[in-house]
Amino acid sequence: MIQLSQISKTFNKGRSNQVNAVNGINLNISAGEFVVIVGSNGSGKSTLLNLIAGSIYADTGSINIDDNDVTKLPDYKRSKWIARVFQNPLSGTAPDLSIIDNFRLAAIRTKPKGLSIGIDEKFKQKVREQIAALNMGLETKLDQPMGTLSGGQRQALTLLMSVTDTCKILLLDEPTAALDPRSADMVMRTADNLIKQFGLTAILITHNLKDAYNYGTRLIQMSEGAVIHNLNTDEKLQITQNVLFEWFS
Ligand SMILES: Nc1ncnc2c1ncn2[C@@H]1O[C@H](COP(=O)(O)OP(=O)(O)O)[C@@H](O)[C@H]1O
Ligand SMILES: [Mg+2]
Repeated sequence: MIQLSQISKTFNKGRSNQVNAVNGINLNISAGEFVVIVGSNGSGKSTLLNLIAGSIYADTGSINIDDNDVTKLPDYKRSKWIARVFQNPLSGTAPDLSIIDNFRLAAIRTKPKGLSIGIDEKFKQKVREQIAALNMGLETKLDQPMGTLSGGQRQALTLLMSVTDTCKILLLDEPTAALDPRSADMVMRTADNLIKQFGLTAILITHNLKDAYNYGTRLIQMSEGAVIHNLNTDEKLQITQNVLFEWFS
């Protein structure tokens, strides 16, 4: 589904503050894989996700998504396949708009121009059912402004609305880092369920080693712009959580 070959990215090339953020990464992610990436700050994790999303371009190498060469394709043209969720629960939604209007906006964003999002009541009912499945009691509050919800509730809804009909890939950059532990658990379970339900190919960046151990079908550690550990499901099952902690000591 996602093939990175010899991908490199250097910021501020030739200047004193030059950073080799990503150094010749080769990565082959199959459809339906859930890749978890860990690594210390500055190891190039977010840069890698930005390269896949197309919000920045690689200096060298190529990126294929679903057998299309997207190396030079801008992010807005990749966004019909790729959904992204970031650390800040405020960044994904409009706080003054209601829950249902946020879902409308998200649905419109990925539809070709001029196409309607369906009969209003039908759309509302679909969203209501999706939200009810989260078991947060929010299905009765569709007209409440998004900004009145807790960070965890917003992040769960952001996840839900980011996964549209055309979405194949979900990129999550520390989606739970700003949340309390209970909300973080709820958001992780929501993400895992969505990935399974829609058969998404997903990449999660996290600093939570417990989540890194418990979720995902592949575990990657990055350091200094390179992949230094890359475990598939079988290999992951053979390590204990302590081994993961030792990677960082
Ligand atoms: N737009 C940018 N301009 C300059 N340097 C950047 C930019 N984005 C990231 N970097 C640098 O690249 C390195 C990797 O950053 P990043 O990918 O954000 O790391 P991580 O997500 O693993 O913490 C860091 O040294 C960071 O300061
Ligand atoms: Mg980062």
